Amino acid sequence: MSDALRGRFVVLGVTGSIAVYKAIELARRFTQAGATVQVVMSRSAAEFVRPLAFQALTYRPVEVEMFRIQDERAAGHVAMGREADVVVVAPATAHVLARLALGLADDLIATTVLATDAPVVVAPAMETHMWLHPATQANVAALRARGVRVVDPESGPLASGDVGPGRLAALERIEAAVEDALVSSTALAGRHVVVTAGPTVEPIDPVRFVSNRSSGKMGYAIAQAARDAGAEVTLVSGPTALRAPAGVRVVPIETAAELRDAVLAELPRADSVVMAAAVADYRSAAASGRKIKKEEAGAELTLRLVRTADVLAAIVAGRRAGTVVVGFKAETGDATAEATRMLREKKLDLVVANDVTDPGSAFGSDTDRVTFVSADGAEPLPVLPKTEVARRLVAKLIERLAR
Ligand code: CTP
Repeated sequence: MSDALRGRFVVLGVTGSIAVYKAIELARRFTQAGATVQVVMSRSAAEFVRPLAFQALTYRPVEVEMFRIQDERAAGHVAMGREADVVVVAPATAHVLARLALGLADDLIATTVLATDAPVVVAPAMETHMWLHPATQANVAALRARGVRVVDPESGPLASGDVGPGRLAALERIEAAVEDALVSSTALAGRHVVVTAGPTVEPIDPVRFVSNRSSGKMGYAIAQAARDAGAEVTLVSGPTALRAPAGVRVVPIETAAELRDAVLAELPRADSVVMAAAVADYRSAAASGRKIKKEEAGAELTLRLVRTADVLAAIVAGRRAGTVVVGFKAETGDATAEATRMLREKKLDLVVANDVTDPGSAFGSDTDRVTFVSADGAEPLPVLPKTEVARRLVAKLIERLAR
């Protein structure tokens, strides 16, 4: 067993499912692993099991709902979230998943999750049809996209008499997810990760530009995952419609040249640079300072494009020993072969390859099917939410930086 839980403050939210009795054992496991466990029960959970059962095992009074909290003077409804090293909701009912997805603040579990910067782990348990309902699945997807770790329920006989997915995951799995959340939330502490994201925009004149279809979602997800792992994160971002993750420093750029300058300025302090930006390969050779007029250009307009600076090459040339550099390779053919070549030729540590014609990897989509290519070989991943791809990429950074 790892010692990830030792000395940590775990807030365990327990909601009203028949699986509540299993959460008693979960609280006992956390306590035995050395954690301080604060149980918060929803009122319906307290209908299934008396709070005293938890209290006896965690040696702490159980909170039942917002207005009974002992010390509201100290903003008790958010204090727990601020103090937590991890917030776990197990079992999580369809109802609590919906409330968390919406950001409602109507009880202590909801306010704790809203107020926390700590990782959040939820372990759903419900009747099969409720679990499979598109509303529940959409809520789970929204939580995942926000970085919540969801420990999927398992299949088996349910209290309703049905057989199917919905049983609370095995406690070992929940405990492993919590340990993983705790370990990775400090794994990059003291490290500085620079992530580039989004498209670059290369002006033709003050009105027109050359750009590409990058949404920035992958880079933003990586920035968030690196922040969740405890890193200081600088996000060098082209124009996107996305909101920057809290706690991440954003350096806005437009052109490839601005992106290069911004990244090189961070390079001396960077432990890793992740080049997720879709940097334009070409820019207009002579961007006009004033609007190009039809009368002047005539029936045909020829744009002369010239190559932009190769930012990855400049990073690799200028990095200090040990800085982990990651490139991306989007192809409409054999992305893995191209990525392998790029890894070697550009002397990168890792290349994330994806085939942009794959339906799982469409531009702007929330999912991606990628292959990690490194000196260790090619590791193809299934179609995953970009947040999950980001988490796995950050796990690779953690591993590389520890070498
Ligand atoms: N990149 C860069 N500087 C550029 C262009 C791209 O650093 N001027 C980075 C991107 O951020 C990405 C990777 O290089 O990490 C993409 O590599 P590249 O060989 O440019 O890939 P494609 O443009 O997909 O390939 P090509 O045009 O060669 O088919």
